[in-house]
Amino acid sequence: MLVLGIESSCDETGVALVEARATGVPVLLADTLHSQIAMHQAYGGVVPELASRDHIRRVLPLTERVLAQARVDLRAVDVVAFTRGPGLAGALLVGAGVACALGAALDKPVLGVHHLEGHLLSPFLGSDPPEFPFVALLVSGGHTQLMRVEGVGQYELLGETIDDAAGEAFDKSAKLMGLGYPGGPALARLAEQGDPAAFKLPRPLLHSGDLDFSFAGLKTAVLTQAKKLGADLEARKADLAASTQAAIVEVLVKKAMAALDQAGLKRLVVAGGVGANRLLRAQLGAATGKRKVRVHYPELQLCTDNGAMIAMAAAMRLASGVATASRSYAFDVRPRWPLGEI
Ligand code: KG4
Ligand code: ZN
Repeated sequence: MLVLGIESSCDETGVALVEARATGVPVLLADTLHSQIAMHQAYGGVVPELASRDHIRRVLPLTERVLAQARVDLRAVDVVAFTRGPGLAGALLVGAGVACALGAALDKPVLGVHHLEGHLLSPFLGSDPPEFPFVALLVSGGHTQLMRVEGVGQYELLGETIDDAAGEAFDKSAKLMGLGYPGGPALARLAEQGDPAAFKLPRPLLHSGDLDFSFAGLKTAVLTQAKKLGADLEARKADLAASTQAAIVEVLVKKAMAALDQAGLKRLVVAGGVGANRLLRAQLGAATGKRKVRVHYPELQLCTDNGAMIAMAAAMRLASGVATASRSYAFDVRPRWPLGEI
């Protein structure tokens, strides 16, 4: 079974093709991506209207490219999957509209996928796929969640952020340091030249005893510190970046370890854009090594948004019987969509 996956929830257009076989995890045949980063950079963040218009320009050429890469004819596609939410409404409508139009034209069923489930299952595309059950640390631009994952479609929320996501804390701190967009990778790069102990920044909810996060106060503390530095900020920017990154990473690592203890599991999956962060990977490696916990990551290029994870999530949902694709092409999108509601 060939599943075409279309991702358009935010600022990347991703199209990919996976093949689900009778046994084993589905296989990625081809994957294409267009990132809008260069376009949004001039505005310091994602401009939703521009994002939608760019998805429209990119999605069919990317589809043609992915089919050419896989040497597969469009008519051989069995299911067309798309990101139904959460994300920017206009951007989601592009992927959903194109997917349903393709499905209708080909007389093939379509399936809307939850973007976070895509992130969650993306490590199955790697060379070291996890086994169920596991604890998932989902750290994307808009979400920070810990989940107990029993199987495809069986997700129990253990804790989540009560305000900003970790990715948001990276992005907002980077913005107020003048590091532009996307801030996370820029802040992480600068942090490598700084001293993580230079500034004492709060570790919100570190000892709260539950698995929730809060990063809004950290961002405010970074802002206060930046103001205090005034003209000296420029010279101390790397130190402030390193201190900010250290605070975010420490909280993520401690809470992930607490979640493993609470769930009584020895397997951790890290997914979402912040999962690309090198310090996070190093510190998770150190913390889990001591506990004999296995950590699984998606391939580095599949940490951020992509079509492969959408095609993969659709294929796994279909294979495990938790979802069926449908020939109803009257689509809707879910800009706000808690993962628990799928
Ligand atoms: O999963 P993702 O691509 O998009 C969403 O679904 O939101 O995550 C994007 C987030 C952004 O906040 C970005 O700054 C962050 O991931 N990010 C990073 C790194 N690479 C991406 N944050 C810290 N360090 C990185 N290396
Ligand atoms: Zn994402």
